[in-house]
Amino acid sequence: MNFAKNKLIRILQNAHAGELAAARAYNGHWKSVRDPKQKEEIRRIELEELDHRERVRGWLSKLGSAPRPAREKVFGAIGSALGVLCHVSGWFLPMYFAGRLESQNTEEYKEAAAYAKELGLDECVADLLDMSAVELEHEEYFRSVIAGHFLLRPAKVFFRWS
Ligand SMILES: [Fe+2]
Ligand SMILES: [Fe+2]
Repeated sequence: MNFAKNKLIRILQNAHAGELAAARAYNGHWKSVRDPKQKEEIRRIELEELDHRERVRGWLSKLGSAPRPAREKVFGAIGSALGVLCHVSGWFLPMYFAGRLESQNTEEYKEAAAYAKELGLDECVADLLDMSAVELEHEEYFRSVIAGHFLLRPAKVFFRWS
């Protein structure tokens, strides 16, 4: 019981900081792309990451815990740096790495949901699975945006995340 609770708290703390990094990176990302439709789509994803952050913080507090300030600082800084990098790295790389990261987030929320289930926290399970589904949508969005890109053809094996 305690093991599951500790695991859940740790995953949620990591996710909370990860969502900050993602939101900041996407903020730089949508500002760096030229296509107005892509700008709008990535901006929406940024807002969804911030929404996840709120929800994760709520569950942490219900579990009697809180985000870890040091981790928030580090990941906040990573996100800001990635956001700036988007302006110089070209179009492909931010789209590609975003897709890969989203794929990890999908799994992270699923794993958290499994621990919440063990703890009998049904509402939490549903919320975490919903967030996992949204991360999957994000992953599919980035996958669809880069599909057919010339860099994916010669390097098919390297530039695949699943
Ligand atoms: Fe998210
Ligand atoms: Fe996401």
